[in-house]
Amino acid sequence: MRPESGRPPSITNDSAAACLTTVDATWTAILAATLAPTREQAWETLTRYTKSEALLRHALAVEASTTFYARRFGEDEELWRVTALLHDFDYEMHPTLDRHPQEGAPILREEGYPEVVIRAVLSHAEHLGLPRETLLEKTLFACDELSGFIHACGLVRPTGLDGLEPKSVRKKLKQPSFAAGVHRDEVYAGAELLGLELDEHVANVIEALQPIAPELGLRTAADAA
Ligand SMILES: [Fe+2]
Ligand SMILES: [Fe+2]
Repeated sequence: MRPESGRPPSITNDSAAACLTTVDATWTAILAATLAPTREQAWETLTRYTKSEALLRHALAVEASTTFYARRFGEDEELWRVTALLHDFDYEMHPTLDRHPQEGAPILREEGYPEVVIRAVLSHAEHLGLPRETLLEKTLFACDELSGFIHACGLVRPTGLDGLEPKSVRKKLKQPSFAAGVHRDEVYAGAELLGLELDEHVANVIEALQPIAPELGLRTAADAA
């Protein structure tokens, strides 16, 4: 018996094949979005929800630091970039801790981001108290506050991050009025979570941010000359 004999006459082999091709393409797209989100896709999501320059710069700074460690640890650079870019994607619409990032998570899920990304995004928030288990979760947490702090240090120096030493970052961390919004305890906890001395972690983040200084609105030694 021919397989199509039980079908209504309008369904031919060709139309069934075309239909399967469409289904196949859809599934391929869904799987691609689920399994391997790209930086481009994350940037598109981020910029759809975030217009503030300061927040976009923060996302870029955390991306650069997190990627520095992805390379160092031999991890999936693209996936880490995606996670870093998205970690505060909902902050502009959910600027309070009772909403950020927990109300952003379902949106990311709907957009097809994998759970590994969503779980890392949720775990960066200290108030949710989620354990940070993967290297990605630990690194995102360790880079979040420190990237913001080093960015702030660079903004008040005529040469930006060029010539910035961990020692002077440490000194500024002890001044509560400087970049007062940065949680110092999270900076220290982050270095510890990565098993690094604070100075080493600071030096790594400075090195990670230097190549994107212009995007962060920072001057460089060349500008000061
Ligand atoms: Fe956040
Ligand atoms: Fe953040």
